[in-house]
Amino acid sequence: MSFLTLENVSKCYGTAQVVCDMNLSVEKGEFVSLLGPSGCGKTTTLQMMAGFADVSAGRITLAGRDITHAKPNTRGLGIVFQSYALFPHMSVHDNVSFGLEMRRVPKAERAERVKAALALVHLEAHATRYPRELSGGQRQRVALARALVIEPQVLLLDEPLSNLDAKLREEMQFELRQIQRKVGTTTVMVTHDQTEAMSISDRVVVMEGGRVTQIDAPHRLYEHPQTRFISSFVGKANLLEGRVSATATSGWATVQLGAVSLDVQAPGVGVGDAVVLSLRPEKIRLLPERRDRLSGTVRERFFLGSQWLYRVETAAGELVVVCPNDEAAPVEEGMRTGLEWSAQQVRLLAGATHAGEVTA
Ligand SMILES: Nc1ncnc2c1ncn2[C@@H]1O[C@H](COP(=O)(O)OP(=O)(O)OP(=O)(O)O)[C@@H](O)[C@H]1O
Ligand SMILES: [Mg+2]
Repeated sequence: MSFLTLENVSKCYGTAQVVCDMNLSVEKGEFVSLLGPSGCGKTTTLQMMAGFADVSAGRITLAGRDITHAKPNTRGLGIVFQSYALFPHMSVHDNVSFGLEMRRVPKAERAERVKAALALVHLEAHATRYPRELSGGQRQRVALARALVIEPQVLLLDEPLSNLDAKLREEMQFELRQIQRKVGTTTVMVTHDQTEAMSISDRVVVMEGGRVTQIDAPHRLYEHPQTRFISSFVGKANLLEGRVSATATSGWATVQLGAVSLDVQAPGVGVGDAVVLSLRPEKIRLLPERRDRLSGTVRERFFLGSQWLYRVETAAGELVVVCPNDEAAPVEEGMRTGLEWSAQQVRLLAGATHAGEVTA
C-alpha cells in the first residue's frame, strides 16, 4: 500500500477550483516532484498535504491514517518553504534545535540529533554562526537540517532552491538528492524548473491548470510526453502538425507534413486525422544532403558550449536541431544540410488527434 495518498483531492477558493480531482500515491522513501507553470496549483497541493490549506473535497492518507482534516502539527511532516525563514536572532544550532525543544526532546538527545543533522548538510563548522553570517546556499541547508532533524515521515519542499544562483542550485540539487537517499525520507518537492524536477526525482507529477496531466519517471516523461504542453515544457521539442495519409495494422502510420511524409508509431489514428508530432532536437542528426533524406537550410547557429543549436528551414517546417560539440566541423549558417532521425523517436501527442483543418 502506498505511504502518502491523495484521492480525488480538490481545492476551491470561492467559485474558483484551483486543484481538481488530484490522485497521487507516493511510496515510502520515494522522491516525487510536482512540476508545472506558475499558478497551476503546486503550492496549494503541498499546503493541503501539510494541513495549512483546507481540503474542499477528497481524502489524504499517510501510512494508512486519514489525515485529511488533521491539525498540521499532528501530521509528522517536515516542511521547507520557498522563503526559508530562519530565526535571525538564533544561531544555526539553535535554529535546528528549536523543533526538538518544541517536541520536548531531552537535552542530551537534542544535542546529538542537531549535530547529526548539521553533519548531514555539511554545516558542523558553522553551528555557532547566525543566519546573516551565512550564504544563501548555507541558509537553505540550515532550513533543510531544521526540517530533517525532527525525523519527519514526509518531507515537503516548496521551491527549496529557488533563491540560489544557477551553479549553487545545481550543487544543492545533487546534495539534496544524496541526503534524501541517505536518510530515506519520503519527499514531495514543488518546483517549476523542469531540469531540477528531472534530475532529482524518482517520479514527476506534471500539473496544468489545477489538474495532473502525467505522472512518470523523468526519463519516460521526457521520452513519452502525453500532451503538447508537456512536450515543450519538459525539454525542447519540435512540434509538427500534419495529417495521416496511411495506416498499417502494425500501429505505424504515415503522416503528411506538406510535401514531406513521416512514419510514426500511432495506433488508433485514422486516415485523414490531423495530428501533432513531437521530435526532440537532439534526436536529429545533420548529415550530407541525399535524395531520400529531408533537407534544409541552416538559418541560425548558436554555440552552447557542449552543443551546437541550429535552426534549419525544411519543407516540413523549421526544425531546431541540437548536436554535440564533438570533433565534427559544425555546419555554417546559410549552408544546405540533410536531416535524419530514427522513426522510433517521433512521438504522436495524445489528445492532439482531431479531424479538423491543419493550419501548418
Ligand atoms: N488564498 C487564496 N485565495 C484565492 N486564490 C488563491 C489563494 N491561494 C492561491 N490561489 C490561487 O490558486 C491558484 C494556484 O496557486 P498556487 O499557489 O498553488 O500556484 P503554484 O503552482 O504554486 O504557482 P507558483 O509557481 O507561482 O508558486 C492560483 O491561481 C492562485 O491565484
Ligand atoms: Mg507556489
